[in-house]
Amino acid sequence: MYSDKVMDYFLNPRNLGEIENASGVGLVGNAKCGDIMKIYLDIDDNHVIKDAKFKTFGCGAAVATSSISTEMIVGKTIYQAMEVTNKAVTEALDGLPPLKVHCSLLAEDAIRAALWDYTQKKGITIEGLEAPCEDDHDHHHHHDDEDDDCDC
Ligand code: FES
Repeated sequence: MYSDKVMDYFLNPRNLGEIENASGVGLVGNAKCGDIMKIYLDIDDNHVIKDAKFKTFGCGAAVATSSISTEMIVGKTIYQAMEVTNKAVTEALDGLPPLKVHCSLLAEDAIRAALWDYTQKKGITIEGLEAPCEDDHDHHHHHDDEDDDCDC
């Protein structure tokens, strides 16, 4: 059911942990499955992501997607990090079972929430970046994925 890569990142997660005094922190949850993901970013003065760590209380796919997405954004600017979408992450993992696609959305949302936190602290904007939802009922995602059943 899972690719070798998903299993590898689940069993040997890279960048697990937290960053003290992080430049940006994002915490998101999926109301349906109850899984929670937290992403910490260390960003330098040129808006380059120097380090990223994650903590995920959730399913194996959520652990794998959050782990690989931290690897994919390190070394990128905050603007380039917007290209690390759930699709990019899913492809990097050689695919996810259809029922698990929403887990990769959680990783994308967590990164964007951390980026948002950073932009708020710095008073800057990133094109295409929206405020993360704080309300469980009123938010509508703009992803066009068929399996987006996250109603966070
Ligand atoms: Fe909830 Fe995967 S089942 S994130």
